[in-house]
Amino acid sequence: MQASLEISERPDGSPAAAPRFLIRTVGCQMNVHDGEKVGNLLLHRGWRPAAGLDDADLVIVNTCSIREKAEHRLYTDLGLLRAWKQAAPGRVIGVGGCVAQQEGDALLARAPQLDFVFGTHNLRHVPALAGAARAGERRADVAEDSSLERFDLPERHPDFRSATPGRAFLTVMEGCDMFCSFCIVPRTRGREISRPASAIVAEAEALARRGVVELTLLGQTVNAYGRHDEKRGRAAEAGTEPFASLLRRIAAIPGIERIRYTSPHPIFFDADLVRAHGDLPALCPHVHLPAQSGSDAVLGRMRRRYGRERYLALVEALRAARPEIAITTDLIVGFPGETDADFEATLELVRSARFVDGFSFKYSPRPGTAAAGETDVVPEAVKQQRIEALVSLLRAQTLEYHRKRVGETVEILVEGPSRHGEGQIMGRDPANRVVNVDAPRAPGAPGPEAGERVRVRLVEALPHSLIGEIEGAGGPTSPL
Ligand code: SAH
Ligand code: SF4
Ligand code: F3S
Repeated sequence: MQASLEISERPDGSPAAAPRFLIRTVGCQMNVHDGEKVGNLLLHRGWRPAAGLDDADLVIVNTCSIREKAEHRLYTDLGLLRAWKQAAPGRVIGVGGCVAQQEGDALLARAPQLDFVFGTHNLRHVPALAGAARAGERRADVAEDSSLERFDLPERHPDFRSATPGRAFLTVMEGCDMFCSFCIVPRTRGREISRPASAIVAEAEALARRGVVELTLLGQTVNAYGRHDEKRGRAAEAGTEPFASLLRRIAAIPGIERIRYTSPHPIFFDADLVRAHGDLPALCPHVHLPAQSGSDAVLGRMRRRYGRERYLALVEALRAARPEIAITTDLIVGFPGETDADFEATLELVRSARFVDGFSFKYSPRPGTAAAGETDVVPEAVKQQRIEALVSLLRAQTLEYHRKRVGETVEILVEGPSRHGEGQIMGRDPANRVVNVDAPRAPGAPGPEAGERVRVRLVEALPHSLIGEIEGAGGPTSPL
């Protein structure tokens, strides 16, 4: 790294040690990636990552407002950060993400310890906002930006450290125009906008050159990529194309071995996208396909624009294209008016679709959404019973799926040490299942490191993970 970047200037112009930042992110993968983008921008402007709160000069809280609980976390964090800020002079606090977009200036008014607020379209302005904050200014920048400029971000700085070496997120579109009646996202992420395919491919190539082997393409409704341009007959001008064609171009990039995408919406799977799952070996055999409910009546009131039959037909089509595909989902219990029969229909969908895993949520009313005013609320105790039943069904199905996989040999991409035992590493297989592997080694001896791909034999099924053994123990690993 260049020495000039290690030096920053104090407001009076004298050189000072580089200021240090810490970013705390909650929420979805888009938010995690936004946190990475902000960190990368700060690195390019001479900031250094802090090891922890003690040596940080700037703390950024990157927020989520998908449910009430997520939003409340910000206020807890801000309470704790007040003492941190008072403990040393010159410390500043910034808030970004979906709560920031939603609340804007109101956050500054509510939290006097807060120095700046940035919205989901204003990541590029963070270094300037942070600099101004250090000079004593308080600002909120949450303007919506319908131009493509917000995607003009620098390449990964040489000091950028990915949480998962070998893997990277890549934004293909942002925003959501679906307005499901329960969901805050269209209000916090704004209107759908797709990046030109050439810019996406160039970014994928640059990541591949840096050793990335697994890409996760991101968008709030990722497979709606380019749909507005196509509908308006301006795809050529915008440089967008159908999502399946984009996948084919990325799959052709040397070095890109695994491609994932999240989150798709069930109504934006065309025949070519389904076919791509059969044709493209690099496209991982896993789709996270949020269903939300198995009841047609509830799906209608949720404004999901599909019913149970259409959803199941899509699941079958994906399986026909790629028989080993693992399908996971998101489900909401206790949406207003959800009856016992509606909930039974959700359990039935879980069985019929043979989900291998899923996230279950209790419905949480969000301000400004269409469903927020519904009066036919489901009592908390009923929500609790339903979520427990749903989670236990999903757990049983995960275990059953894991058991069927025992005996297979798969490649895992190592993420790092396992949470469970000393000498164990953890990685993910192409189906995105967590695989823990015994990898004992003498200190200093070579062994699988984060970012390496290792072939393992699956030997044991657990409810949340699989246990694997390195093929020919201690044997061949494929470095990046
Ligand atoms: N873009 C994705 C969803 C992103 S939000 C999609 O369309 O599928 C992630 C998940 O949070 C959703 O799939 C939904 O299950 C859940 N969720 C969203 N709003 C919610 C709310 N108000 N209450 C409870 N869960 C909610
Ligand atoms: Fe929310 Fe629906 Fe958009 Fe997904 S598709 S982000 S659930 S509004
Ligand atoms: Fe949360 Fe915003 Fe993502 S509300 S789930 S961080 S789009």
